[in-house]
Formats: sequence, C-alpha cells, structure tokens
Amino acid sequence: MFDRQLLKDKIVLVSGGRSGIGFQIASSCLSYGATVYICSRKKDKLEEAAEKLNEIGPCHAIAGDIRDIERVKEIAHLIKEKSGRLDILVNNAGGQFPSAAKDISHNGWNAVVNNNLNGTWYMTQTMANTFFIPQKCGNIVNIIANIYRGFPGMVHTGAARAGVENMTKTLAVEWSQYHININAIAPGIIKSTGLEQYPPELLKDVSDRIPLKRLGTTQEVADLSVFLMSPMSSFITGETVYIDGGQRLWGDVFEF
Ligand SMILES: NC(=O)c1ccc[n+]([C@@H]2O[C@H](COP(=O)([O-])OP(=O)(O)OC[C@H]3O[C@@H](n4cnc5c(N)ncnc54)[C@H](OP(=O)(O)O)[C@@H]3O)[C@@H](O)[C@H]2O)c1
Repeated sequence: MFDRQLLKDKIVLVSGGRSGIGFQIASSCLSYGATVYICSRKKDKLEEAAEKLNEIGPCHAIAGDIRDIERVKEIAHLIKEKSGRLDILVNNAGGQFPSAAKDISHNGWNAVVNNNLNGTWYMTQTMANTFFIPQKCGNIVNIIANIYRGFPGMVHTGAARAGVENMTKTLAVEWSQYHININAIAPGIIKSTGLEQYPPELLKDVSDRIPLKRLGTTQEVADLSVFLMSPMSSFITGETVYIDGGQRLWGDVFEF
C-alpha cells in the first residue's frame, strides 16, 4: 500500500505487540523496513509472537508491564543498549471490561485507569526523556478508543482514554520544540483478539449499529498507524483520528 522503504532504518516500539491490533501494527512496520520491539506481560506468548514477526523483519521481544515504571525504564535501557535509539512509540497496550458504571468496584476502576492512562503515561514520558527529547526527534501514536459520545458501558476506559487524548494535545504543544509528533487513533469496534473477552450477547448484531455495517480490521488500524508515524503526516500533531465506520456519529453500540 505504501512505499516498501517508508520506515527503513526506523526503530519502533509497540506496546501490546504480541496480539491483535498491536501485532498487526508491528507486522506492518516490519514490512515497511523498520526494526521493531514488542513488549507485553506474558513472556511466552510475547516470544512466540516475536518469532512469527521475525519472518517479516527484525523483531525483538522485551517482556514487561507498562504499569511498572521501573520495568518501563529497563525496557528503554535495553532498547538503548541494543539499537542506540528509538524513533517511534506506539502505545497500544491496554484493556477494559464491560460493566454498568454503578457496578464497577474500586479495584476494577483503578485497574483500568492504571493500565490505560498511567501505563501509557509511564511509557510516553520514559521514552521521550530517554530518546525523543535528547534526539530532538520522535513520533508517538496512542491507541485509545471511541470516546466521542462518552463511553456508556465502559466509563473507566472512557475516562482513561479521554485522559490520554488530552495528554496527546498537551504534549503536541509542549514537545513540538523537540520535533516530536504525537497523535491518537480512536478505534471503534475492530475484529481483534481484544473482543474475545466480551460476552457474545453484547456483540450480537453489532454491525447493524455501525453505518458501514461491519467491524473494522486490524489491518485498517495498522495502515492508519503507519500513516501517522510516517513523513506523510508530518504536519499533523495533537490530533485524534477516529476509525470506526462512522459509529461515533450514529449512536452508541452497547446498551446498559
Ligand atoms: N478491538 C477493539 O475493538 C478495540 C477498540 C478500541 C480500543 N481498543 C484498544 O486497542 C488496543 C489493542 O486491542 P486488541 O483488540 O488488539 O486487544 P488485545 O489483543 O487484548 O491486546 C492488548 C495487548 O496489550 C497487552 N497488555 C495489556 N495490558 C498490558 C500491560 N499492563 N503491560 C503490557 N502489555 C499489556 C496484552 O498482552 P499481555 O497480556 O501479554 O500483557 C495484549 O498484547 C487495546 O488497548 C484495546 O483496549 C481495541
């Protein structure tokens, strides 16, 4: 789709790159010439994914939890030792569970906010301070969610992702002096591994409630990610791009 040399010599880190959307982003980056690091918590599955990705191009696995700031610093250190620099960070790791707002426990709320907001922040600040700011060059893509109309049925992730969207705008301005572009992607419902944890009844007939009458694909999210990390989008920063088949304009998909 794009020039095969588009990301030649770029070093990319994809959090949550062992599965679903993150795996496809890693795969696309490799096919456009990048060297890719993937990180996530489950070491065995992560290494299995890296082995598959290595068939496309150089891919390294570093296990770690984005909520653990010390481990995040170690991840940065390991990349520095091996590659000397980082060009692009994709904050894709995250997760949530559907629940009516009134039923969410204190722990449930904290777990989602800690993962999707704090973990993303630890990765962003650490990679910027270690690489992008001293290099005076960098690119960050934040995968958030469709929060256009709030997020009925998942208030915790809606709040956390809105935090990341606001962070994206702030850093686009503060870090413009270091030539760091930062944008967010807000996927609607994407046919990906993340959907497997949702009860089937929640997803029944869900395509009918999306104007384009289908779910998105991981490839479509990966193509948009590649566009946002490439020179084709060099004048875009602080933006959130929705990739949702028009769902945000039509209505909510889940009923609670
Ligand atoms: N699929 C959709 O429709 C959709 C829509 C909107 C937004 N999203 C978001 O897009 C991202 C990817 O979604 P997906 O469908 O591809 O889901 P997925 O397959 O469940 O991917 C999530 C990835 O994040 C990793 N991860 C989760 N918590 C982590 C942590 N604390 N530290 C490090 N890695 C962590 C997981 O690996 P480990 O288990 O090994 O840690 C996994 O590889 C997620 O943030 C998701 O919430 C998805």
